[in-house]
Amino acid sequence: MRMILVGPPGAGKGTQAARLVETFNIPHISSGDMFRAEVKQGTELGKQLDHHMKLGGLVPDEVTIPIVLKRITQADTAAGFMLDGFPRTRPQAEALDKEMAKAGVALDAVVLIEVPDQLLEERAIHRRSDPQTGAIYHLKYNPPPAEIAGRLVHRSDDTKEAVDKRVAKYHAETAPIIPYYMEKGILKRVDGVGDPDVITERIKAVLND
Ligand code: AP5
Ligand code: MG
Repeated sequence: MRMILVGPPGAGKGTQAARLVETFNIPHISSGDMFRAEVKQGTELGKQLDHHMKLGGLVPDEVTIPIVLKRITQADTAAGFMLDGFPRTRPQAEALDKEMAKAGVALDAVVLIEVPDQLLEERAIHRRSDPQTGAIYHLKYNPPPAEIAGRLVHRSDDTKEAVDKRVAKYHAETAPIIPYYMEKGILKRVDGVGDPDVITERIKAVLND
C-alpha cells in the first residue's frame, strides 16, 4: 500500500497515520516529524527549517523534495508507505510521481481528511505530544495521562498566529493538489469530524472501495 494523507493543519493526519500503519504494516513518513527531528538536532539545515516552520510558512520545495524522496527510497518502504504532510504543493506532487515512476511503482490512494477551518485552531493550540513515544494528545479531546504531563511538548507553530497562517497556506498551496489527484481517480474524501476511532473506520472503508 502506497498512500498519502492530505488535510489541513490539525485535521488528524498524524493521529490517523499512527493507527493505520499498524494495520497495513508500512512506515509512517511525516515530513513535519522529519523536519522537527532535524531542528531538534540543531544542525544548519535544522535552523533553516525552523525559520520557515515556526511562523507557519512552508519549507521551500527545493529543500523539501530531496529530503522526502530520499526517505521513500529506503529499504523499509519496499512494500509501501504512508506519507503524511507530503506532497503539499503541486511541484512536490509532480516530483513524487516522477520518482515513483522511475521505481516502477504507483500510488494506491490519496486520502483527504476534511475538517472545517473553524475547528482547526482549537485542535492545534491544545495539542500536546509525548517526545518519548510520539503519541499525540489533545488537552480536551484526548487528555494525556497525568504522570507524563511533565515531558509533554507544545509545538512552536501551534500558536494562534502560526495556525492561521498554516491554514491560509493550506488553502493557497496544498488545496490545488486535490484536483490533481481527482483527475488520476485516486482521491478518497473522508469526513474528519467525529470520534478518531470512527474516522479510522471511515478511512479503512474508503480504502476498500
Ligand atoms: P506538519 O507537521 O505536517 O503539520 P500540519 O500539516 O500543519 O499538520 P499537523 O501535524 O499540525 O496536524 P495533523 O493533521 O497531523 O493533526 P494531529 O493528528 O496532530 O508540518 C509542520 C510544518 O512543517 C509546516 O507548517 C511546514 O512549515 C513544514 N512542512 C512539513 N511538510 C512540508 C512540506 N511537504 N512542504 C513544505 N513544508 C513542509 O491532530 C491535531 C490535534 O487534534 C491533536 O491534539 C489531536 O489529538 C486532535 N485530534 C485529532 N483527531 C481528532 C478528532 N477526530 N477529534 C478531535 N480532536 C482530534
Ligand atoms: Mg501531524
